[in-house]
Amino acid sequence: MAADATKLTDGIKLFSSHISSNKNSISSSSIILPFIGYGTYKLKKETVRENTLEAIRRGYRCIDTAFIYGGETTEKQVGLAIEDAIDEGVLTNGRQDLVVITKHWRKYHGYDKTNECLRLSLKRLQLDYIDLWLMHWPGPAWTTMNRRKDLIAEHGPWHYAVHFKDELPKIRAETYRAMEDAVKSGKVKSIGVCNFTIKHLESLKKTATIWPPAVNQIECHPLNFFAQKELVEYCKKEGIVVQAYSSLGGQDAEKKKPVVTNLSNTPPVMKLAEETNRTPAQVLLRWGLEKNFVLVPKTSSKERMIENAEALNFSLSSEQIDRLEIQLHHALTEAAKVEDKDIQSMARLCWRNDPLRDLLFE
Ligand SMILES: NC(=O)c1ccc[n+]([C@@H]2O[C@H](COP(=O)([O-])OP(=O)(O)OC[C@H]3O[C@@H](n4cnc5c(N)ncnc54)[C@H](OP(=O)(O)O)[C@@H]3O)[C@@H](O)[C@H]2O)c1
Repeated sequence: MAADATKLTDGIKLFSSHISSNKNSISSSSIILPFIGYGTYKLKKETVRENTLEAIRRGYRCIDTAFIYGGETTEKQVGLAIEDAIDEGVLTNGRQDLVVITKHWRKYHGYDKTNECLRLSLKRLQLDYIDLWLMHWPGPAWTTMNRRKDLIAEHGPWHYAVHFKDELPKIRAETYRAMEDAVKSGKVKSIGVCNFTIKHLESLKKTATIWPPAVNQIECHPLNFFAQKELVEYCKKEGIVVQAYSSLGGQDAEKKKPVVTNLSNTPPVMKLAEETNRTPAQVLLRWGLEKNFVLVPKTSSKERMIENAEALNFSLSSEQIDRLEIQLHHALTEAAKVEDKDIQSMARLCWRNDPLRDLLFE
């Protein structure tokens, strides 16, 4: 249970069962995924190496990165930080003390392209295996990140997709097949997904031979929990660990909106922090631990690395948790009224510029 953890090495055992043709589980591999890891999204290019090394020095044993982060430069810097940590003797047993997570990028959907993506990730990280490899996005592959809003407004969000909408479940299954083969070849210890809805998971289940995916990494914090509840329940039922990202409100939130500009600065979070004698960030992280999520907060500050790890050392009551969710939901409802916007989409703070961020595709 995440709520019982006290150290940054404490974590949850991941299981990936290999399913035989008669659908019986025939074997399983496992790793311990720390309840709190270190997120590397939007770390400055020139400081990724130092920040990541510092996080390892301060006890973090899980690093979450991705093929695409830093315009495809972050993995290389993370790899160098791991090398530095080993050279410094910070990791008692070397590389095996760390859980390294990276993510397949959506430009590489399909069997062969997925293999190529993995080859590049391993090369950039300078590692011979990845502990947890996640499919970053259920599709589609975009030709470019710099999409023109006017063209999307005219032709719809599928304008830039490389693959047709109807092809997606099939190509996603092919991506996953390559990921399964990577487990079999030992290049990857465990596989999972990100940003998958119940529909995406149900469709993947039809062809998967490794089920469940060990993890579904999704945006989840007390502001959007109401919208994620059903998915969280589904993951629990299927044995998929929920890894919540943007626990502190993320880095992509719309700057103008008062309720979502900075989750830490919202009155309900600040009040609860005062009441518990903790910081707002600790309250937000503790909320996630009480929900049994695994977390990957990002910070570029050494002090905040320690502050965030301290979320392991207190608790919130179920009354405090419910109150926080209710108060934030109320604030969001009021803000949605003022802005005349849909509360569901306002509750998502990430992938702000992505026209498909609401994931309403099969
Ligand atoms: N799979 C996906 O699609 C996906 C999407 C988004 C994120 N992620 C992963 O999840 C990780 C975390 O999410 P995130 O980076 O979006 O945001 P986050 O963890 O919610 O952090 C948001 C901001 O909070 C600040 N912060 C950190 N600790 C703090 C503290 N103690 N007090 C006050 N502010 C604090 C950080 O700024 P400072 O650096 O200035 O401290 C950071 O910019 C990412 O780094 C990435 O690894 C995955």
